[in-house]
Amino acid sequence: MKKKDEIKFRVITKRYAEDDRVKHMQDFIQHGTTTTYDHVFRVSAIAYEINHVLHLGVNDEKLIEAAVLHDYYLYDWHNHGDHAHGFHHPYIAEENARRDFAIDDDVASMIRTHMWPLNLFDVPSSRGAWVLTCADKISALAEMREAHNQKSQHNKAGVPAT
Ligand SMILES: [Fe+2]
Ligand SMILES: [Fe+2]
Repeated sequence: MKKKDEIKFRVITKRYAEDDRVKHMQDFIQHGTTTTYDHVFRVSAIAYEINHVLHLGVNDEKLIEAAVLHDYYLYDWHNHGDHAHGFHHPYIAEENARRDFAIDDDVASMIRTHMWPLNLFDVPSSRGAWVLTCADKISALAEMREAHNQKSQHNKAGVPAT
């Protein structure tokens, strides 16, 4: 990626990374040992890179806002008691993001559809929404692989997995 694009990414993400409401996602685990906060910034970086490498022309501000807030559901899903968290959380994240960040309908739609095809009828309806749903899956796979590798290393060292 070009240097100027990297700088632009840092400038846009900085305002979210330092926002206390966004930082609240540091309190929750997404996959393995990855916090929701780390996950959403990883998704942001992947989505931004896809947008630039493939010259898709998606609005960077909107794409990053949607990526940062796509999992802004604000609870620990491991002990939340909602067995359908995977289905429900995009709508909760959208509602929270509308309440706290005054997002527009394009961004709301990207957040709402990011779990497609799990939520089969909420199909991504813009280029940005497709980029986000792909970036989210790439990131989730990497995080689950990291968690698996960490467990394997623990086991090899004779340390019981937790
Ligand atoms: Fe999600
Ligand atoms: Fe996600």
